[in-house]
Amino acid sequence: MKDKKRQASSQLDNEETKQFLAALVESNQTRDQMTEFWNKHSMAQSVEEMMLDSKAETLTQDEHPEVMGMLPCIKGKDVLELGAGIGRFTGDIAKDAHHVTAVDFMQSFTDKNEEVNGAKFNNIDFVCADVTKLDRPQGSYDVIFSNWLLMYLSDEELEKLALKMLQWLKDDGFLFFRESCYHSSGDMKNSENPTVYRTPQMYTDLFSAVKKQLPNGDVTRLEVVTYRSVEAYAKHKQNKHQFFLVVEESILKRWKQRKFTRIS
Ligand SMILES: C[S@@+](CC[C@H](N)C(=O)[O-])C[C@H]1O[C@@H](n2cnc3c(N)ncnc32)[C@H](O)[C@@H]1O
Repeated sequence: MKDKKRQASSQLDNEETKQFLAALVESNQTRDQMTEFWNKHSMAQSVEEMMLDSKAETLTQDEHPEVMGMLPCIKGKDVLELGAGIGRFTGDIAKDAHHVTAVDFMQSFTDKNEEVNGAKFNNIDFVCADVTKLDRPQGSYDVIFSNWLLMYLSDEELEKLALKMLQWLKDDGFLFFRESCYHSSGDMKNSENPTVYRTPQMYTDLFSAVKKQLPNGDVTRLEVVTYRSVEAYAKHKQNKHQFFLVVEESILKRWKQRKFTRIS
């Protein structure tokens, strides 16, 4: 009887180990595919590569000011820019912000960003790192900005990053991100495209599942407070599925002080 139990429990252990290893292999494969995709698309460090579109120069003239215009006030703020690429947005953010940390996992993009924007501004740190492995000090940013990054992360990676972002934000901080939803937006042909095209609702659900307990016992979570489609893409490409979303930390549950009565 004891032997049978031991056998069953070791079979269970084996099954769990197998599942764990399969998940690990899958997550490593995703990371390799995403890295490989950007290795292929970071040869020229051009705006066409950033937007994966041959008409990028025309598009960016309308799209860039529209995205910046949608960004809530960043004057004097500490900003973390994730997936900064060659720095299409980095310089404009640095103009108003107190400090910018611009992160991208392609060394060639990070170098180009530093060459262009590092020469004009002295309030930018350029960091070459994969955001899935990134660590920053707790409560160090007012704003986390990303334009077309989250679609290069799996759901699991995005959940982990969202939890970290919740820790990195200062009180009253916010997150601004823009993504291609439903389908691709560029006209560059890719035989292998690992991009994850979510719906705005999927982002809303993913973010709201992330919770943090404060030292006073309150529980907070990330909540999408605004989202809208980017008009420049509707105008130039009849594509209404380019969305920006603003996410804030909000109190989910306030800790209630319980009153204990002494029974003597
Ligand atoms: C479509 S480009 C957008 C670049 C820039 N934000 C812009 O709008 O011009 C996506 C960028 O995300 C970067 N990226 C993708 N996955 C990343 C990751 N896991 N960690 C850091 N950067 C990443 C790519 O190298 C690329 O520069």
